[in-house]
Amino acid sequence: MRLPVIIATLATLPGLLAFPHSPSVFSNRAAAYSQPETRSNKTKSYCPGHPASEAHQRKIFFAFINDLYVKKDVLGAFDTYIAEDLIEHDPFDAQGRAANAAKLVNIIPYVPSTVLRVSFSNNVGLAHVRVDEANKEPIALADIYRMDGTCIVEHWDVTQSRPANATNPIAMF
Ligand SMILES: *[C@@H]1O[C@H](CO)[C@@H](O)[C@H](O)[C@H]1NC(C)=O
Ligand SMILES: *[C@@H]1O[C@H](CO)[C@@H](O)[C@H](O)[C@H]1NC(C)=O
Repeated sequence: MRLPVIIATLATLPGLLAFPHSPSVFSNRAAAYSQPETRSNKTKSYCPGHPASEAHQRKIFFAFINDLYVKKDVLGAFDTYIAEDLIEHDPFDAQGRAANAAKLVNIIPYVPSTVLRVSFSNNVGLAHVRVDEANKEPIALADIYRMDGTCIVEHWDVTQSRPANATNPIAMF
């Protein structure tokens, strides 16, 4: 991830926070990723992780992405699916679930985003997300998460803003 992109992205946050009621745009495509995960035990039964089949992990991961980016229930998603001692690789974020939830709860609900695709394989989940800030070129976000059994334990992200002078008519999306 290029540092200027990160800085540019972070620099927009105060602006975003100033417009907490800006309309959010959700794609119907995101609904395709809505796979409610049913639990008999409503307490934190996913973290710490316990062994799970890849099919079960995939279902849990898709439910997490749906809660986070479609329902935009940041605190619920983090409390339910993320390890308390989350390993975070974003260069400007702190470690742990609480710090990252506290940051994202002030961003994700207020920024229009579209989940383009989600996949899960070999303990790693990927979400490709389009972020549309008002009056700005869209940002492509790749969220990569590692699961330990049923629990999401590690996160990387890669972001890129579409250049205003992009020459490819299908640039980035
Ligand atoms: C629910 O999970 C908690 C924490 O793991 C456990 O203590 C409790 O016994 C579980 N309850 C049921 C009904 O499984
Ligand atoms: C697009 O704009 C950037 C920044 O102004 C410039 O460096 C680059 O050469 C431009 N590319 C094209 C293909 O016009």
